[in-house]
Amino acid sequence: MQSKTPSESRSIMTDLVLPSETNPLNNLFGGELLARMDRAASISARRHSRRIVVTASVNHVAFNRAIPLGSVVTVEANVSRAFKSSMEIFIDVWIEDRESGRRTKANEAIYTFVAVDDTGAPVKVPALVPETDLEKERFDAALRRKQLSLVLAGKMQPKDATELKALFIDA
Ligand SMILES: CC(C)(COP(=O)(O)OP(=O)(O)OC[C@H]1O[C@@H](n2cnc3c(N)ncnc32)[C@H](O)[C@@H]1OP(=O)(O)O)[C@@H](O)C(=O)NCCC(=O)NCCS
Repeated sequence: MQSKTPSESRSIMTDLVLPSETNPLNNLFGGELLARMDRAASISARRHSRRIVVTASVNHVAFNRAIPLGSVVTVEANVSRAFKSSMEIFIDVWIEDRESGRRTKANEAIYTFVAVDDTGAPVKVPALVPETDLEKERFDAALRRKQLSLVLAGKMQPKDATELKALFIDA
């Protein structure tokens, strides 16, 4: 199976924030942003694997900055590391200044998707080869994020999370 680069799975979705998608402060409702990120991430996972993909976990979401009504929001996703059947997807969310057009990073998130066959059983995906410094940084940290996610889900014993433990021992 031929390896792929993060740019081959990049998906970019741009959309407005409409009144029905806001909270009482007139900012984008968190659940709406989660759904937009899930859609972009799912397209990335599909582009990388060319298989049916399902969301296995949402590993991290940082709502750092409120996104006001009327904003132009761009959700940009790509696979940051591929394991056997699972893929970590990194998502960056940008908002665009109406007058200058300058983009500001508003939020980010990390999702895990799994490629499955028609019966829902996990199947192998291509390896990922990072190219840029940022892609390499995200790739390197992905294994400990996977281990943390598995420990929190009760699918891995903390003692087996070697990469995660090393983070605290080396600190
Ligand atoms: C995701 C799913 C396919 C995993 O099935 P499973 O029986 O746990 O399969 P496995 O234990 O073989 O795990 C498959 C892969 O998922 C990874 N995985 C499973 N749960 C995970 C979690 N919480 N965090 C990170 N990775 C996880 C495993 O590490 C494994 O990765 P690898 O093959 O790259 O090593 C299964 O739980 C599922 O279908 N869930 C529902 C998905 C869905 O409907 N999502 C939409 C939300 S409504």
